[in-house]
Amino acid sequence: MKQIHKRILKEIGLKARESDLKAWAVGGFARDTLIGKNTEDIDICVEGDTSPLIKFCAEKYGADVVRFNDFATARVNLSCGLKLDFVRCRAEVYDKPGALPKVRPAGLKEDLFRRDFTANALALSIMPDEFFKEYDFFNSEEAVLKGYIKVLHDKSFLDDPTRLFRAVRFAARFNWSIETSTERLMREAVEKGYVNFISRQRAAHEFIKILAESRPYQALKCAAEYKLVDFVFTGLKLNPKINNLKTIEEKLAYLSLLQGERGFEFLDSLLLPKKDTALALETLKWRKSKAAPSKPLSKNALRIIRLYKPDIEGFKLKPLLLSAADLNELGYEGPALGAKLKALAKAQYAGKIKTRRAAFLYVKKTGF
Ligand code: CTP
Repeated sequence: MKQIHKRILKEIGLKARESDLKAWAVGGFARDTLIGKNTEDIDICVEGDTSPLIKFCAEKYGADVVRFNDFATARVNLSCGLKLDFVRCRAEVYDKPGALPKVRPAGLKEDLFRRDFTANALALSIMPDEFFKEYDFFNSEEAVLKGYIKVLHDKSFLDDPTRLFRAVRFAARFNWSIETSTERLMREAVEKGYVNFISRQRAAHEFIKILAESRPYQALKCAAEYKLVDFVFTGLKLNPKINNLKTIEEKLAYLSLLQGERGFEFLDSLLLPKKDTALALETLKWRKSKAAPSKPLSKNALRIIRLYKPDIEGFKLKPLLLSAADLNELGYEGPALGAKLKALAKAQYAGKIKTRRAAFLYVKKTGF
């Protein structure tokens, strides 16, 4: 952890003591710190009111504060890159499976117990007299160091079925195993259709979070083995080469191509806004048309197509050799021009036309 970040946490701890509060860095930050992984995204759990600490950060560091209505929660973005999520220690009660929980103030132990997995239920104190002292009530350190995913209680997947997706995501990210009784609970949860308790949007969102991982192939394969993927899209086809891609847009485009004729159906199943699917749509439209594109494919689209089909002939990717203006000069207009352009694009894609000259000859030979 960067020295400046440590110093800031210490200063927040001092402010907590001054305000008669207790505060811990919890969850992913504590887990990642234990395995020596740096993270600038820190959840800070506070026993008591979070507002003195949020106000302190805003005043002392000029931090940008985004408040949420949700239980004294706020995200505090510091210019040094730290992102602090302040939340009051809470216990959660799930009225019905998959619904958002009701919350009430609680102590640290209860707050940690409400979490998804033991590996994510570790806390590091930020109080001055015990800075970075570990609070480990549920064998979290063992789970992190030995590397396994284990729920804190048997109803965890019923309370929150998104945890099924989270289990495979974390297991794949760290190359951890899923502990036997948790594995049994997961299979049971899938068999009983717990994922149906959450909205399609939430399931799709979890799928996208898996895609955001640096090794999505392993996570998706594991999700497919547990039949979790079926809740989003049945029969997903995969290829380890997806791990060569960086952005979600690229991974989406590649996965869409992998689904063959079902590419558009796959894309629709993720319920994404249009702007996030532009690259996938570009590659899918090109593939479906089986014709030379009227304008050059983007660099990214070309890269994804080549990853999908490394032996693809270059001419299949080249933009149309003649334009509408060219055909117009040859006397084509209206529907006849459109039809000719289409025929040209198909012929070029099929490799029958490789130069502009050949394209003109083709137009002349095939006539109106
Ligand atoms: N959490 C949970 N159940 C969920 C979502 C989150 O119990 N369905 C808890 C976990 O303890 C988790 C914490 O809330 O550590 C923060 O959630 P999130 O940011 O999603 O988890 P991180 O572990 O920080 O994930 P990442 O490393 O991907 O940032």
